[in-house]
Amino acid sequence: MVIKKIAVLFSGTGSNMEKIVKEVHKKTFNGTTLEIAVLICNNPNAKGIEKAKKYGLETTIIDHTRFESREDFDLVLVDTIKQSGAELTVLAGFMRILTPYFTKNIKAINLHPSLLPLFKGAHAIEESFASDMKVGGVTVHYVNEELDGGNIIAQKAFEKTDNMTLESFEETIHSIEHTLLPQTIIKILTQKE
Ligand code: GAR
Repeated sequence: MVIKKIAVLFSGTGSNMEKIVKEVHKKTFNGTTLEIAVLICNNPNAKGIEKAKKYGLETTIIDHTRFESREDFDLVLVDTIKQSGAELTVLAGFMRILTPYFTKNIKAINLHPSLLPLFKGAHAIEESFASDMKVGGVTVHYVNEELDGGNIIAQKAFEKTDNMTLESFEETIHSIEHTLLPQTIIKILTQKE
């Protein structure tokens, strides 16, 4: 049996991390079993930490405020991921800008709540809702040294209807994310050549 390990990084609520735990962790697809090797959070107060405990999973906390520079933080982050044996790292609501040291050493994918390359950065949901675009969407992409700029792996759009509020727009995004991210992880790690 083939086992492939992933690292999952989050910063807050952790709803996407929870979906990965439920849909991917210790599940077998095409003869390959996927396993979360390590959960990492940069925020000691993140709600996701308690969520993970419900499933018997401990989170490794690497509090970014305790480091003098992004590079110092990334040194520990990369080391923790390498030690876990994860071959793919998933940024599931991980709200830190990563340095080239991270991007050169770690194969990672990121979940972003807009149709990239539009609305990069930390306010994608608000900005895409406020724009005059008639669609919103979600992207999963490889992480490279450019913020939200790596190759796109999966994308899903939805219609922005006139009666949508920011809240319902955001809910639609999250419900798409909760399917698209697990599906993409499974596809990357288990699809036959
Ligand atoms: C998600 O909407 C994700 O797309 C976004 O953070 C949220 C995390 O939610 N990520 C970014 O904006 C990255 N730039 P969660 O903690 O409930 O999974």
